Amino acid sequence: MALVTAFRRLAQYSRRSVAVLSSPAVWHSNPRSFTSGIQPLRADNKVTVHFVNRDGEKVTVKGSPGDSLLDVVINEDLDFDGFGACEGTLACSTCHLIFDEDIYKQLGPITDEEMDMLDLAYGLTDTSRLGCQICLTKSLEGMVARVPESVADIRQSKDGSA
Ligand code: FES
Repeated sequence: MALVTAFRRLAQYSRRSVAVLSSPAVWHSNPRSFTSGIQPLRADNKVTVHFVNRDGEKVTVKGSPGDSLLDVVINEDLDFDGFGACEGTLACSTCHLIFDEDIYKQLGPITDEEMDMLDLAYGLTDTSRLGCQICLTKSLEGMVARVPESVADIRQSKDGSA
């Protein structure tokens, strides 16, 4: 009986959604331009991040709130050799980044799993974190993230290939 009720509600919701979507009020003058009241991500909603590469080069990019710093590196096609080898699965420490102390304090709690991986990173500092675990917020606007001079990929060490 509960299942029948759930299906009825789903059907009612679907009909309502179709009615709302087909209403001219939700379409802009261009029928291909859907405006639901949700504002598209504008450039001013983005967060500016300054990366300092291994060679000291400063690269300034923007990312969306909620993106990890690994996402930003990938989306902006930044060429940090070996960065993000495990694609954010906390199985390497190649996304090791170093922050200024004031930014580091805003980065949120660190998990035991991240701490375990960080322990294996070369050049570990008191303000080190893994980029795949740091998500952008507006309060991090203008942050500086330094890429350490060298990386350690624990997965290669386990293989004995490095
Ligand atoms: S990308 Fe491997 S731990 Fe972050």
